[in-house]
Amino acid sequence: MLAHNVLTLALLVPAVASSVIHPTRRQSSLDSFIQSESTVALQGVLNNIGADGSSVPGASAGVVVASPSKSNPDYFYSWTRDAALTIAMVIERFMAGDVSLETVIQQYITAQAKVQTITSPSGGLSNGAGLGEPKYNVNLTAFTGDWGRPQRDGPALRATALIAYGNNLLSTGKQSVVKTNIWPIVQNDLNYVAQYWNQTGFDLWEEVKGSSFFTVAAQHRALVEGSAFAKSLGQSCDICDSQAPQVLCFLQDFWNGTSVISDLANDGRSGLDANSVLSSIQTFDPNSSCDDTTFQPCSARALSNHKLYVDSFRSIYDLNSGKKSGEAVAVGRYPEDVYQGGNPWYLTTLAAAEQLYDALYQWKKQGSLAITQTSLPFFQDLDSSAAPGNYSSSSSMYSSVTSAVKNYADGFYSIVQQYTPSNGSLAEQFTRNNGTPISARDLTWSYAAFLTAASRRSGAVPRSWGASKANQVPSQCQGGFATGTYATPTVSSW
Ligand SMILES: *[C@@H]1O[C@H](CO)[C@@H](O)[C@H](O)[C@H]1NC(C)=O
Ligand SMILES: *[C@@H]1O[C@H](CO)[C@@H](O)[C@H](O)[C@H]1NC(C)=O
Ligand SMILES: *[C@@H]1O[C@H](CO)[C@@H](O)[C@H](O)[C@H]1NC(C)=O
Ligand SMILES: *[C@@H]1O[C@H](CO)[C@@H](O)[C@H](O)[C@H]1NC(C)=O
Ligand SMILES: *[C@@H]1O[C@H](CO)[C@@H](O)[C@H](O)[C@H]1NC(C)=O
Ligand SMILES: *[C@@H]1O[C@H](CO)[C@@H](O)[C@H](O)[C@H]1NC(C)=O
Repeated sequence: MLAHNVLTLALLVPAVASSVIHPTRRQSSLDSFIQSESTVALQGVLNNIGADGSSVPGASAGVVVASPSKSNPDYFYSWTRDAALTIAMVIERFMAGDVSLETVIQQYITAQAKVQTITSPSGGLSNGAGLGEPKYNVNLTAFTGDWGRPQRDGPALRATALIAYGNNLLSTGKQSVVKTNIWPIVQNDLNYVAQYWNQTGFDLWEEVKGSSFFTVAAQHRALVEGSAFAKSLGQSCDICDSQAPQVLCFLQDFWNGTSVISDLANDGRSGLDANSVLSSIQTFDPNSSCDDTTFQPCSARALSNHKLYVDSFRSIYDLNSGKKSGEAVAVGRYPEDVYQGGNPWYLTTLAAAEQLYDALYQWKKQGSLAITQTSLPFFQDLDSSAAPGNYSSSSSMYSSVTSAVKNYADGFYSIVQQYTPSNGSLAEQFTRNNGTPISARDLTWSYAAFLTAASRRSGAVPRSWGASKANQVPSQCQGGFATGTYATPTVSSW
């Protein structure tokens, strides 16, 4: 029967078969790849978390190691950023029903209570400065070597992860455990963000000292949801309320009219950087409209930026040759990158897909899609009939544009599929000339990025953080002037 069907198709409708059946087949192969690779990716994450992770012997309980690689490069450390982003993904899967993950979440929180007390070259807890330390030894001691420090995104990302789990516990009536075990850690992080957001630091790639869009965007989100979290515990975060609008005000400075300039620093770069795309997925709010001031994934700003960012890699990687504008390509951190040869990364190519899945969710939820002069170039690459206007979900423009965006997003995922080795392991990068995996092996963040993009593609989204009520930019920006307070957190039983 199978042979007969194939033969019939081949003989009777060859021309149609090649244009219609092929995309369907590719789609189903992408679906099954995502399904099987998701299992590998989740195991890949768990293998890199102490104390039981099989790839990271020596790591303490709840410590998320960046990669098992100990040389060229040595990533056998726990970065506050990578760990928080990874645990945020784990929390989302826990909330979606994988209850086996709760122990690792609680162990992470217990470990972070200890981390906050570690005095490092960034400083200690008494004035909060130590919270900006980017990475720690896997046995929960300070890393004392030279490094690009401080990095001020870590406390914000950690607060966001802990708040997600805290809100889940609150929804099951566990107020006192949240107040005892989670709030003190979150409170320190919120105070740090409110006190230090207006000072320079190193960006998420640990190279540029200045002001980083990703850091500021993550900080704004943390302050906004931190204030609401405090209220739901009968507490308050006045310092969050006073600083959040100013952080949003500063965030606007990174927009140049067509793209985000990811670092405000004297770095001689174009400013096009995955930093910006990662920001839009970090601050994605499923309950928000396509708001420009918070750079929501479906905003005209974020879409225009997506195009300029992606286009900056079209001609520089051999891997992308022959791809037309509007076709997905392999993308890296920023076009000027030379680290390990300056290659595409799995997590950035996945982020390019994830932003678009987020946008599709937002358009579907609001039942319409706007094309403005700012976003027109993005849309026209995907559908030459795109024109400015507001299109309801019943219009043919809405259907054709959203289906083009979905195909484009899947195209980034298919590139990841193409360059994933058959055993499913995801390194940090794949080479720009032939796509061979390179740099740190089994990068925890690569696996986490695979899983969050897969969730968004399937329509699963996190909770709202209140973006739609925190998008008013003050008429005049002011610098920071708040001083935080800090206290030693302890975690008792759960
Ligand atoms: C913790 O790890 C560091 C780096 O590997 C090592 O130098 C130090 O001796 C360890 N400390 C303890 C208490 O095990
Ligand atoms: C501090 O905030 C002001 C007002 O938004 C801004 O102009 C300035 O660049 C900021 N500086 C840093 C280092 O964040
Ligand atoms: C914004 O910056 C990007 C990247 O450097 C550049 O290509 C673009 O022309 C700039 N847009 C404007 C309006 O200056
Ligand atoms: C779309 O609708 C918004 C708000 O209703 C309006 O401000 C905007 O001008 C409209 N855009 C177009 C292109 O019609
Ligand atoms: C998986 O494949 C990659 C690339 O071929 C290889 O480097 C790695 O060692 C393999 N991992 C395992 C656990 O076999
Ligand atoms: C979602 O948005 C609606 C309307 O803007 C608002 O009433 C509601 O409170 C929001 N929900 C959350 C969880 O923020």
